[in-house]
Amino acid sequence: MKVTVLGAAGGIGQALALLLKTQLPSGAKLSLYDIAPVTPGVAVDLSHIPTDVEVKGFAGEDPTLALEGADVVLISAGVARKPGMDRSDLFNINAGIVANLVGKCAQTCPKALIGVITNPVNTTVAIAAEVLKKAGVYDKNRLFGVTTLDVIRSETFVAEAKGLNVDQVKVNVIGGHSGVTILPLLSQVDSVEFSSAEVVALTDRIQNAGTEVVEAKAGGGSATLSMGQAACRFGLSLVRGLQGEANVVECAYVDGGSEHAKFFAQPVLLGKNGVEQVLPYGELSAFETQARDEMLATLIADIDLGVEFVK
Ligand code: NAD
Ligand code: LMR
Repeated sequence: MKVTVLGAAGGIGQALALLLKTQLPSGAKLSLYDIAPVTPGVAVDLSHIPTDVEVKGFAGEDPTLALEGADVVLISAGVARKPGMDRSDLFNINAGIVANLVGKCAQTCPKALIGVITNPVNTTVAIAAEVLKKAGVYDKNRLFGVTTLDVIRSETFVAEAKGLNVDQVKVNVIGGHSGVTILPLLSQVDSVEFSSAEVVALTDRIQNAGTEVVEAKAGGGSATLSMGQAACRFGLSLVRGLQGEANVVECAYVDGGSEHAKFFAQPVLLGKNGVEQVLPYGELSAFETQARDEMLATLIADIDLGVEFVK
C-alpha cells in the first residue's frame, strides 16, 4: 500500500505526513512530494519515528518518482487563503497546479485513488476529472474532493453545543466545500434536538469555520492541523477500503450520479475500487431542503468553471 502526498512540505502536507507515518498500516509506503527543496528533509525527519512505514521525499519540478506505484494520492499543493479572500480567489493559481499534478497522476499511477484537498475544491475536483478524461483514464469512482474537515468540524461543534462525547456524534455534510454549499445535516444527528435558532447558528458556524481559522491566523494561512487530521482520516479510510474492509463510509465530494450537480458531497461506501456505492443522504428537514436547493446554482457554477478551465 503506497500513499503519496503532493504538497507535502506545506502546512497540511507536513501534519498529514506525520499522522500517516504513525497511523498507516504496517508495511505501507509513504511518499512525499513538494516543489519546496526541504521535502526530502521532511521525509528524513519522519523516518526517525519508529513505525513500520517507509517514507521517502522528493522535491523539484517533477513528481513522477513520488507517484510511481501509488495506490492513493492526496493533493494539498497550492496556495491558501489570507483574510479577506474567498476560496474562489485561489482559483487562478491553484487550478493550474492541480491540473498539472493530476496530469502526472494520469501518466504515472492512473489507477490510484486521488483525493483533492487544494481549494477551491468545488472547482479543482472538476478540473481533475477533465484532465483525467483528456488522458483517457477517468474513473469516477477513483476521484474524491476531500470534505472531511466539514464533517469533523460539525461533529466537534455539535458535541460542544450539546455537551456530548464527540466520539458518539456523527454528522453527514452534503453539497460542496465552500460557504453555502457546505450543508451539515443536523436534523439527522442521533438523539439530539436543536431549536431553529441553534440550527441556523450552527450551520452558519460550520459554513464559515474555514474563515474563522483564516481570521484567527491573521495572514498566517488557513486550517492546516485540523485539515491534516481530516485528510488522514479520509486517506486511512481509502486505504481500509482498498484492503477490503467492510462498511467503510465517508462523506466525500464525488461524481456519483447526483440529481443535483455533476459533483456532490454525500456519504459513500469505500472499497477495493474506490467508491463502491454512493449512499442516499436520507430525509432533510424543511430548512435543509431549502438550503440545498438554494446552494445549487453556486455549486454548479463552481463546477462549470473547472470544466471550462480545462477546455
Ligand atoms: P501551504 O502554503 O502551507 O502549503 C502548500 C504547499 O504546496 C507548499 O509547500 C508549496 O510549496 C506546495 N506547492 C505549491 N505548488 C506546488 C506544485 N506545483 N507541486 C507541488 N507542491 C506545490 O498551504 P496549506 O495550508 O497546506 O493549504 C494547501 C491547500 O489546501 C490550499 O489550497 C488550501 O486552501 C487547501 N485547504 C483545503 C481544505 C479542505 O477542506 N479541502 C482545508 C484546508 C486547506
Ligand atoms: C477550510 O475549510 O478551512 C479550508 O477550505 C481552508 C479555507 O480557505 O477556508
